[in-house]
Amino acid sequence: MTSNKQPEVNIGLVGHVDHGKTTLVQALSGEWTDQHSEEMKRGISIRLGYADATFRRCPEAEEPEAFTVDEHCDDHDVDTDHLRTVSFVDAPGHETLMATMLSGAAIMDGAVLVISATEPVPQAQTEEHLSALDIIGIDNIVIAQNKVDLVDEERAMQNYEQIQEFVEGTVAEGAPVVPISAGQEANIDLLIEAVQSEIPTPERDPDEDARMMVARSFDINRPGTTWDDLMGGVLGGSLVGGQLDADDEIELRPGREVEEGGQTEWQPVTTTVRSLQSGGDFVDTVTPGGLLGVGTGLDPAITKGDALAGQVAGPPGSLPPVHETFTMDVDLLERIVGDDGGEVDEISTGEPLMLTIGTATTVGSVTSARDEECEVALKRPVCAASGSKIAINRRVGARWRLIGVGTLR
Ligand code: GTP
Repeated sequence: MTSNKQPEVNIGLVGHVDHGKTTLVQALSGEWTDQHSEEMKRGISIRLGYADATFRRCPEAEEPEAFTVDEHCDDHDVDTDHLRTVSFVDAPGHETLMATMLSGAAIMDGAVLVISATEPVPQAQTEEHLSALDIIGIDNIVIAQNKVDLVDEERAMQNYEQIQEFVEGTVAEGAPVVPISAGQEANIDLLIEAVQSEIPTPERDPDEDARMMVARSFDINRPGTTWDDLMGGVLGGSLVGGQLDADDEIELRPGREVEEGGQTEWQPVTTTVRSLQSGGDFVDTVTPGGLLGVGTGLDPAITKGDALAGQVAGPPGSLPPVHETFTMDVDLLERIVGDDGGEVDEISTGEPLMLTIGTATTVGSVTSARDEECEVALKRPVCAASGSKIAINRRVGARWRLIGVGTLR
């Protein structure tokens, strides 16, 4: 079935709480719930807030009406052609922990920003999410102006102008703004057309070493499973380069914390890929795009409860270095993003920061801060290449707030 094709691109779905992200995903992927129950049956349930959608085209219809997610075009009574399967990476809309959003952003190739036409622009998370996209450098953006069924034309136009004003000078400047009603499934064809042209599938080099960003890890065994039936630990995440095959040997870094003679040390973990799951199917080979489930030979006790989230996997010896301390070049925002955002003060020596690098989130203590450079000692080490982007969050009141971006030296 074509609906099981492996996703080839990851698209972030961002926007303020209640602006309609979940409803839009439902409009774009009628089979989502099905895929989940399949996953359940197979005993691997990986939920990162992902949903796959397959874009199709009716061969007999004119564009944009030709774009659809249906397998059959009723108007012309023909089957539709498969264009590509995309994976939507959901971002939590409520009281956003910016880091969650940013760790998702590490595996996004583009984003759809959902903005409700019923409220003034920008709402708090609309602004927060757009500046996260700005920081991570995601510039393939489509804006979905949602809930247009609830406003009259004049309000829709006013809202449209507010959107244009709001995105001026950001990564979203010039992005298409598509008026839709996710609830009524109106203009979904126009939205697919915009996503097809604005968020192309990136070119991949299959000869590159496989590089997987681990976002989750699981023990999928039911309590009381006997040793004979015990399944190895499962990793959930996304491939950002290369290709991964069943039976490949992989290394995970930073790996595990091991105690030796009163000293603790992080040691890489090596294992074999036993099974690969993508787009709801078991496959022999995976390439970047979508969410990946990797069955391994690891003791499930090691992978239980997201214990390996934030790690990086790839062929042994191919991974970037592990850092317990590092120096980063710092680029601070002018003011804190969000409703009550004040000015951002310089980073000071001794202050704790929450840092997101790839899918890893760790607290670091600043050991030295100079103008545009900062040295931190991490609570948990990270595996990252020089030049990696780091989202920097500072504790303000009860929340961690995004204050800038770092680049690993
Ligand atoms: P969070 O996940 O909580 O951030 O919210 P969300 O952005 O996913 O919003 P959700 O899809 O849950 O929609 C919020 C409410 O708006 C729901 O009651 C939807 O039924 C409604 N809604 C979403 N899209 C539309 C639309 O196009 N028209 C109308 N009339 N209602 C909509």
